[in-house]
Amino acid sequence: MGFVTANLISPGSIYRGSMLMLNKAAGVFYKPSRRKTYEFLRSFNFHPGQLFLHKLVLGIETSCDDTAAAVVDETGNVLGEAIHSQTEVHLKTGGIVPPVAQQLHRENIQRIVQEALSTSKVSPSELSAIATTVKPGLALSLGVGLSFSLQLVDQLKKPFIPIHHMEAHALTIRLLNKVEFPFLVLLISGGHCLLALVRGVSDFLLLGKSLDIAPGDMLDKVARRLSLVKHPECSTMSGGKAIEHLAKQGHKLHFDFKPPMQRAKNCDFSFTGLQHVIDKIITQKEKEEGIFLIGRVGKISNPGLCLKIPVCFAGIQKGQILSSAAHIAAAVQHTTACHIAKRTHRAILFCKQRDLLPQSKAVLVVSGGVASNLYIRKALEIVTNATQCTLLCPPPRLCTDNGIMIAWNGIERLRAGLGILYNTEGVRYEPKCPLGVDISKEVGEAAIKVPPLKMKI
Ligand code: KG4
Ligand code: ZN
Repeated sequence: MGFVTANLISPGSIYRGSMLMLNKAAGVFYKPSRRKTYEFLRSFNFHPGQLFLHKLVLGIETSCDDTAAAVVDETGNVLGEAIHSQTEVHLKTGGIVPPVAQQLHRENIQRIVQEALSTSKVSPSELSAIATTVKPGLALSLGVGLSFSLQLVDQLKKPFIPIHHMEAHALTIRLLNKVEFPFLVLLISGGHCLLALVRGVSDFLLLGKSLDIAPGDMLDKVARRLSLVKHPECSTMSGGKAIEHLAKQGHKLHFDFKPPMQRAKNCDFSFTGLQHVIDKIITQKEKEEGIFLIGRVGKISNPGLCLKIPVCFAGIQKGQILSSAAHIAAAVQHTTACHIAKRTHRAILFCKQRDLLPQSKAVLVVSGGVASNLYIRKALEIVTNATQCTLLCPPPRLCTDNGIMIAWNGIERLRAGLGILYNTEGVRYEPKCPLGVDISKEVGEAAIKVPPLKMKI
């Protein structure tokens, strides 16, 4: 039996290429099963060129509120994928309750990993390694993924690759596009907010980060404060998505929120101040729309007596949606976009000034849950157009947490020969873990002035 490849698999393609095998006796080509293909390729003791499919990684993600798993091969083919999202449960409790998240991960992990494996049609024994998120994240959630993975690793006698969640977000783009190092990455999600230069698979320079909460967290808090879960169009959406949806019906300049940290010439971020300003506006609007007003109630029989007591008018009740909710959503989204765009603009200028990025056609990758926001993407596009950079964003399903990015990070590490463990003794999860070498102080000391850009979005 010989083999021929047809439709060569381009690196990073997520579509399966096809391989034809020659049945010498019959003198005809036929398309073998996936299993036969892998068995055949594995029978070689050498790497058959660029096309070999023989590195297969199972990725497992449980760092926050998604239980996810996927099987990905060396060329970026996604062979199987499964995900269980806890968003709906956490929407009801008004935020992630770690023990609830832990319990849901426990209930779902076996099924999700099984589903990813069975759709991939890859038998566990064929895996090259198992890659699992071990940092950073919620301790109780990370613990479930790690202990499940270690059991599996032990059972299957496979190498283990511990994964940094943010590294995985940053590298996802290389599964889809041929992006060479170095490139700039902006990671914006519910738990993280950072700007980093990616110089290699595990070689990062941290240029700036949020000094308080992440943008997704702020948007989630605003959405909760606005009770958007009670809005018929937004009831199943995450906070950030609900804000984006509602913002389309509002006017961004109706409220004038100032972008945070305008005087700090660094690449750090801050969202708590903005959240408090919005909180105050919402309280004020709730009053205006009439929860309690002081009424004037006179006793007819005694016209001289005038009492001032609270009277409840038919205004909005706590938990109801403000008439100005869409304007607030539009203004908060706009202010967030301007803040993120300005810090990113400075990071690009800094990297170019220090020759850390090429002067033209440098790549900016934006990922994380908030990167699915099209308004924020447009603001970043204005920045990349002004700086001759290329903006790349993974599709929304790869921007939010998923198992594919973890499996792909495993492939990247296997290819680079980095962090592959054959002995898992002493492996621990780390709820807090910085990404790369922190040079944010140096960035601040450079105090780069960013030229103003018209944010016509
Ligand atoms: O990356 P992710 O799935 O989880 C981590 O936080 O690591 O991101 C979830 C965050 C949530 O805060 C959610 O509100 C936000 O991403 N998000 C969005 C959008 N979709 C999800 N924020 C703004 N606009 C969106 N369309
Ligand atoms: Zn994430």
